[in-house]
Amino acid sequence: MDKLQVVGGKRLEGEIVISGAKNAALPILCAGLLTSGDLELSNVPRLHDVKTILKLLAQTGLKVTQDDEKVTLNGSAITTLEAPYELVKTMRASILVLGPLLARFGEAKVSLPGGCAIGSRPVDQHIKGLQALGADITIEGGYIHAKCKKLKGARIRTDMITVTGTENLLMAATLADGETVLENAAREPEVTDLANLLVAMGARIEGIGTDRLVIQGVAELHGARHAVISDRIEAATFLCAVAATGGDILLRNTRTDYFDVALDKLREIGLVMTMGPESIRAQMGGRPKPVSFRTTEYPGFPTDMQAQFMAVDTIASGSSRITETIFENRFMHVQEMNRLGASIQTEGNTAHVKGVDRLVGAPVMATDLRASASLVIAAMAAQGTTIIDRIYHLDRGYDRMEVKLSAVGADIVRIK
Ligand code: EPZ
Repeated sequence: MDKLQVVGGKRLEGEIVISGAKNAALPILCAGLLTSGDLELSNVPRLHDVKTILKLLAQTGLKVTQDDEKVTLNGSAITTLEAPYELVKTMRASILVLGPLLARFGEAKVSLPGGCAIGSRPVDQHIKGLQALGADITIEGGYIHAKCKKLKGARIRTDMITVTGTENLLMAATLADGETVLENAAREPEVTDLANLLVAMGARIEGIGTDRLVIQGVAELHGARHAVISDRIEAATFLCAVAATGGDILLRNTRTDYFDVALDKLREIGLVMTMGPESIRAQMGGRPKPVSFRTTEYPGFPTDMQAQFMAVDTIASGSSRITETIFENRFMHVQEMNRLGASIQTEGNTAHVKGVDRLVGAPVMATDLRASASLVIAAMAAQGTTIIDRIYHLDRGYDRMEVKLSAVGADIVRIK
């Protein structure tokens, strides 16, 4: 099992290229199941989760060719309408094959994703929505069996805002008979990126970017060419890193218009940012100021940035309060940060952070994707050496993070 060894105290200086967004790439790759044409994708991030979804898609018979960040899919020879447990258990987003397989082939058998570290994360809304579209769904032996000769458009309102739930139902609705209205839809930029791709494939979708999507089903979708949007979570992770260590970095290949709330919080922390068309220059001198926030669905403060901002708060010049409203167990990085000398108390879904003058390196353990990123940030700000164990979590969602950080002056090496 790989570990990362980090020696803290180094300022960050230089350029970092941001990769494509994991949470846009995963649903977009599954959209390859919706057409017999070619889907030519670029800016696909090189991540373990992308490898996993491509393995799963290839098992259905989807033709996959990959050349670095370019991936071409062709769905003209799909033979298996199943997503097996051994793959789904390693990545919950595999549930995103359910909608497309059902919509195009009238049948799908997908393993129920297990829970995960940050919460139970059920998929009841995915199932409820597909049933509203006419699917006959039974759950047995840990699998979701869905059947429907032809999905029929319907008005669906999910009980809560769900990102992959919206994506699954949106993909299914593109090939359903008639009109589907998705209310309470997720508005994350990654959902919008998927919707834009589907329109490029011939889908008819109104209300993109809003919480009400209106889809007119079409008989079939054709191939398309699409560049995955850049990853706002990766970009914010590196901005938190320089906020914690001090320095002057330039992020390339990033958007600047879809994480305003996080950017405002970074300015409150004291980060000075200069925006270019596809770049952000971030300069940080002095000690971070504390920021409080509560995570909510887009366009509010993203839950996927909560742990990274907490890492900065641990060394800020005051106290802060962080409330997590999306997942019930997304504070597992707290104990690990306290091992580095942080002073964080949790009370239900709120963490109270008291900024300390310095963190001191120690062995810690990654527990989930964004928690592992937050430990890298804390370790880079700490004095001395930190060993971060179980960094397979990190590799799921970050494209060679230690390589990108070493290139801007961090002392961080991967040890096998
Ligand atoms: C997506 O997960 C992201 N993953 C997550 O990113 C992200 O944290 C999350 O959205 C919230 O923004 C991908 O896009 C691949 P949800 P998802 O359905 O779709 C409850 C990362 O770090 N819920 O929006 O699984 C659920 O339990 C990952 O990149 C139901 O109860 O999240 C949660 O409390 C982590 N029933 C809340 O809704 C359902 O049927 C939001 O979940 C669906 C969801």
